[in-house]
Amino acid sequence: MKNNAYYHDMLTSRIPWGSSTCSKRVTWPPEEPAVIVRGRGCRVWDADGREYIDFRNGLGPISLGYCYPEVDEAIREQLSRGIIFGYPHPLEAEVAHLFSEIIPGAERVRFLKTGGEAVAACIKIARQATGRSHVIQIGYNGWLNALAGRGLALPGQAAAAQVPGVPPELSALHHAAGWNNREQLEELRVRLEGRIAAVVVAADYDHFEDGATFYPFLRQFADQTGAALVFDEIVTGFRIAIGGVQEYFGVTPDLAVFAKGVANGMPLAVYCGKAAWMRHLEQAIVSSTYGGDALSLAAAKAVIGIYRREPVIKHLWQMGERMWGGLEAIFAARGIPAVVAGRRPVAFYHFLPTAAPGLPERLGRAFCRAGVTLYRGGYVNYSHQKQDIDEALERIRQADF
Ligand SMILES: Cc1ncc(COP(=O)(O)O)c(C=O)c1O
Repeated sequence: MKNNAYYHDMLTSRIPWGSSTCSKRVTWPPEEPAVIVRGRGCRVWDADGREYIDFRNGLGPISLGYCYPEVDEAIREQLSRGIIFGYPHPLEAEVAHLFSEIIPGAERVRFLKTGGEAVAACIKIARQATGRSHVIQIGYNGWLNALAGRGLALPGQAAAAQVPGVPPELSALHHAAGWNNREQLEELRVRLEGRIAAVVVAADYDHFEDGATFYPFLRQFADQTGAALVFDEIVTGFRIAIGGVQEYFGVTPDLAVFAKGVANGMPLAVYCGKAAWMRHLEQAIVSSTYGGDALSLAAAKAVIGIYRREPVIKHLWQMGERMWGGLEAIFAARGIPAVVAGRRPVAFYHFLPTAAPGLPERLGRAFCRAGVTLYRGGYVNYSHQKQDIDEALERIRQADF
């Protein structure tokens, strides 16, 4: 029988980590679903036919909901005309212009498939433009960029001082800095004087509001050092605000990357920025066969239309408040030593040091048994309605842990 157990064996016997995406690795079988076979709106179903109210949202890309009709229709319509061609498709032009309209500072726009490679493209642009080699990274910017000793190897997971699989010579050009750690940045400014090509920053969700002063500080830091300021908006774009932190905090970077959420799950990454920086792509080559495929762009065009027409961002904030505020209240009521941090469209829960070592697992298993899939907290999407959130909270409230 092709059930969860069958697929769990299939995955773990053939695929390192049990999945091509490390964060999808199943750690708590049999409660945790081995595979998800389908989704609709805010719900997903596993191979045993169990239903979950889902807050993982594909680990971020599902911003409107699974099988969102208008987006799926746009994909189907494009599918009937072709997926990809040997010349640009009109959608490549149209969607590039749409991004210029909705993203502050997106004077030039280009497409790739994954967030990490788009950040790598920005780093290459910055190195070409400045003639410098060193890169400061704040936060996780994708596996391809996890090069700095003690930087983030995966979201929330620090690498060793010497990163496995990375030559020390390469690692020496990458420097991990902490969110809002201004002393560390000042120290790097002195140590790397005249050698910093780029400062790449992904928001810290737990201390997000520090961005109100930290982003202006980084803008000034980049202007003074001559480095490119690169915003990783892979999670914040289309969630905190359509234009991400640059819109929310009103600080325009030189280059930026958007990915999760821009095409409701279709693989599309957008790197964009000021013409003066993006023009360096004429020398620093970035090219991929699949950049600008018509299916993902059709999805992105539909997604942007919906975001512009409907109160998607407001909904994400409101439903996030209902869900994460509710979860916090349950933690408090049941005496669970955990807090929910982050802004409401992107929230994560953390256990306090007083938590018993086995508590995360016990809670994780119980949430799955109750029919709620979380990702250390997670995301709400536009299809989560009040009754879905209330049902999820009730399931958690009743959960046995
Ligand atoms: C902030 C941030 N930047 C970059 C990435 C990498 O994007 P991708 O997995 O599409 O390469 C992620 C993925 O989790 C992310 O959360």
